[in-house]
Amino acid sequence: EKDGFDHFMLKEIYEQPKAYRDTMRGRMLDGLEGVKLPELKVLTPERLKEIRNVHIIACGTAYHAGLVGRTLIERAVKIPVENDVASEYRYRDPIITPETLVIVVSQSGETADTLAALREAKRCGAPVLAITNVVGSSVAREADDTIVTWAGPEIAVASTKAYTSQLIAFMLFSLYWAQVTGRADTAQLRHELAAMEALPEQVEKLLEQATEMKRVAEDMAKHDNLFFIGRGVDHAVVQEGSLKLKEISYIHSEAYAAGELKHGTLALIEDDVPVIALLTQPALIEKMVSNIKEVKARGGVVYAITDEAHAELVGKETDGVFVIPTTLPHLSPALSVVPLQLIAYYASLARGNDVDKPRNLAKSVTVE
Ligand code: F6R
Repeated sequence: EKDGFDHFMLKEIYEQPKAYRDTMRGRMLDGLEGVKLPELKVLTPERLKEIRNVHIIACGTAYHAGLVGRTLIERAVKIPVENDVASEYRYRDPIITPETLVIVVSQSGETADTLAALREAKRCGAPVLAITNVVGSSVAREADDTIVTWAGPEIAVASTKAYTSQLIAFMLFSLYWAQVTGRADTAQLRHELAAMEALPEQVEKLLEQATEMKRVAEDMAKHDNLFFIGRGVDHAVVQEGSLKLKEISYIHSEAYAAGELKHGTLALIEDDVPVIALLTQPALIEKMVSNIKEVKARGGVVYAITDEAHAELVGKETDGVFVIPTTLPHLSPALSVVPLQLIAYYASLARGNDVDKPRNLAKSVTVE
């Protein structure tokens, strides 16, 4: 059932191109002229026009998908979005109105905190959209509308293909919302959807270089502490990379917004401390490079992940670089998270851990 892979996690990492295709299938109009989401019954174009703000609620990896979702929605729809971890949401007395769209993200659709947040949102009269991988799950049943991610069953405790399929769902939904509210024209939609359609093949291409990540991971496995840095949407992605590494390799790591380093954390950088830097945002490359120089000046060892367009520049400033294909900047998380998943996988393997069943963790968390 592992199809020749040593672990479910690795199999699921390799299933991502298929999960992307399955999640996109049937949801694009002919000629890529737009998105269709006939499953939205309560969130009609008229209802979407009334929405004034968005709350995205989830736990763990799904929360990290929501961070990317925020940038996608704010960019496409120009409506303010807040992210909350589900276990905190109710206790901060959030301001939820019928003009707030609450989006809950849950692979399993059974996470207790997420479900409780969904019920609170409904109690306040807000429409609730679920993004889930399980048809008929509690979250899917109780939400007003559901966008299903067609990632297929995810067995490994560490989520991979479910997370990336959630990104695809956010991409589709944000474009759909822009389209039905007149914020995106056909040319723009076609451009974005064509870039999305290219993602599965781009993932296949970067998976061909997976063994490069094995070498990096084996080096990371020798350390007890490391840092991830990124700016903008890359910061959202490194938070996911850091969680993945912690949960299966048990190596402590922190994900920092690169500009925050010098406000304290730089004190922890000394000789040989590994730093994994993610650079995919053209507008932020220069700032990232200066943050990398700050790390290098303190003896840190910087391993970078960047795209083809910036490989040469970034290569000069770092100790190693992994190159991913170039896509539109806001779509890059669907590519850039893959090498981070591979680092976590191979680091766990190098440390002799039970990759698919990390200690202390369960696949579905049904207590608050
Ligand atoms: C980490 C991981 C968890 C889940 C979280 C939410 O790899 O899998 O952080 O993302 O427990 O689970 P769902 O998405 O089922 O609500």
